[in-house]
Amino acid sequence: MCGIFAYKGSKKNATELVIQGLKKLEYRGYDSWGVAYKTDSKINVYKEVGKIGSFDLQNAEGKIDFSLPCSLAVGHSRWATHGGVTVENAHPHLSSDNSIAIVHNGIIENYAELKKDLINKGYKFKSETDTEVIVHLIHDNIKLGLTDAVKKAIGYLHGRYAVLVISKDENILIAARRGSPLIVGSGEKEFFIASDIPAFLEYTRKVMYLDDNQMVVINDRPEFFDLETGKQIEKRIVEINWDAKEAEKGEFPHFMIKEIMEQKETISRAINQDEDKILKIAEAIKKAYGTYLIGCGTAGKVCLAGSYLFAKIAKRHVNSAFGSEFPSLQDFITDKSLMIAVSQSGETADTLEAIEVAKKKNAKVLSIINVEGSSMDRMSDYSINIKAGPEKAVASTKATTSQLAILTLLAYAVAGKLDEGKILLVEAASKINDMLNPRYEERIKTLAEKIMNHESMYVIGKGLNYPMALESAIKLQEVSYIHAEGFAGGELKHGPIALISKDTPCIAIVANDETKHEILGNAMEVKARGGYIIGVSPENNEIFDFWIKVPDAGNASPIVNIIPVQLLAYQLAVLRKNNPDMPRNLAKSVTVK
Ligand code: M6R
Repeated sequence: MCGIFAYKGSKKNATELVIQGLKKLEYRGYDSWGVAYKTDSKINVYKEVGKIGSFDLQNAEGKIDFSLPCSLAVGHSRWATHGGVTVENAHPHLSSDNSIAIVHNGIIENYAELKKDLINKGYKFKSETDTEVIVHLIHDNIKLGLTDAVKKAIGYLHGRYAVLVISKDENILIAARRGSPLIVGSGEKEFFIASDIPAFLEYTRKVMYLDDNQMVVINDRPEFFDLETGKQIEKRIVEINWDAKEAEKGEFPHFMIKEIMEQKETISRAINQDEDKILKIAEAIKKAYGTYLIGCGTAGKVCLAGSYLFAKIAKRHVNSAFGSEFPSLQDFITDKSLMIAVSQSGETADTLEAIEVAKKKNAKVLSIINVEGSSMDRMSDYSINIKAGPEKAVASTKATTSQLAILTLLAYAVAGKLDEGKILLVEAASKINDMLNPRYEERIKTLAEKIMNHESMYVIGKGLNYPMALESAIKLQEVSYIHAEGFAGGELKHGPIALISKDTPCIAIVANDETKHEILGNAMEVKARGGYIIGVSPENNEIFDFWIKVPDAGNASPIVNIIPVQLLAYQLAVLRKNNPDMPRNLAKSVTVK
């Protein structure tokens, strides 16, 4: 949440570079944006409400002065937490004398006390944000010099933050982190700092990760410090193997549809893992006394699907919970437990907190992530990279199916049937490749046109596909803004069936397995009350008012069955004139609690 981008180097168009970098981070927050840039000995700031994507660099006259050479700038794209969506609350925030500018991602939990103290000292606040206390704290200590003033100010903060600081008096860029991501990109006589790697990938693939409680001061070169000991630390440069083009939309109108279509290849990439590593992890799962799958949102639904997959394929009980709920379950955790954290970004605050809880109990942690070098990757005893490539649409699609593929593979490995699992998934990948053709898209669009004006819809599933009913509902809610809910088919008669009236759309996910007859029976119950049944199934059935054909993928059915619903959510968003890549109120990578 919130995108941060900064440039310090030999180029003279830092402001432009920062705006371009921020445009690539817009998926992290799009309530407002702003830049602070240093020219001669002055800090200039420009901010506005709305998405940075629509800002035209060619028509910036009167807003930003690009004529002055500038080699140091910071920018921010905001997802509002403290304070409404206004220009005053947009970042960067300035000290009262305009000498220091900062941008921040995270939440300062003790900002109210700090603000009170600063007001007593005579500081005047222009915004309602928690962030503004940081800039005044730095100013309050500026006699120490900028670097030490930042260190001192950081010492007062409770909570999670990624902060970037520049000042009119020193030609340095400072960043500090606790809990929110920051990565330093190292180019030819130039450095970038961003919340996510794709933002600077076109300039460099060499990165250095800033860890929690660390600070970097960039002058001609970066110097890293441990904020707890004050000692300087050495950082390893890591070479990233993502291709900059992978993070672009290319010929597609939106990232969401591009990422849905990429599922033709991503499953095969996901399962192409080092076999010894998978077997070693399978042993750790077998040995563990209590295994917990933890994730949030869509990743949380994938975790629930994992419980079903392990039960069915490996005959093993594996628990699952949302990251935000896990601290309440921690009393079950011991040093013999294993946590499997599932996260696309590897930076979700609630999941990170769950990992911290598990680590405190000396439990082992396995992360299933899409971002190499992310916080979760680095905190874990083992990691599996799903290799889906950058996922930029807020609604997760390709990462979801790749996470499901990895959990399926692990379940087979635990059952001692890794080869069988691989064959199943290779076949599923090839079936998805055949399924995602223009005719298929057209058919889903026809359905979207039929149901686009409904206020509510429901999704039912059973067994392996119950979690997919829940995931379908998230997808539909997120981008279509239609009220959607997922249920276990058998639960309908215990209450939710009261919500069905004439023509209420109800998607029934019907896998060709032992659950088939019961879930068809549940769909029949909905139909008998006037519901409009959309069957997602390998075979047509007289109950269905509209049939979406999916290939029969056996135990890989959750992977295959969620894809048409992703497409439906996308088509509904487009028809209802919503931006599927940047749904209202949401942001990619939820780094606040
Ligand atoms: O990066 P993560 O996988 O940890 O993100 C978890 C959720 O925030 C994420 O899945 C969210 O629910 C998506 N917007 C769903 O499409």
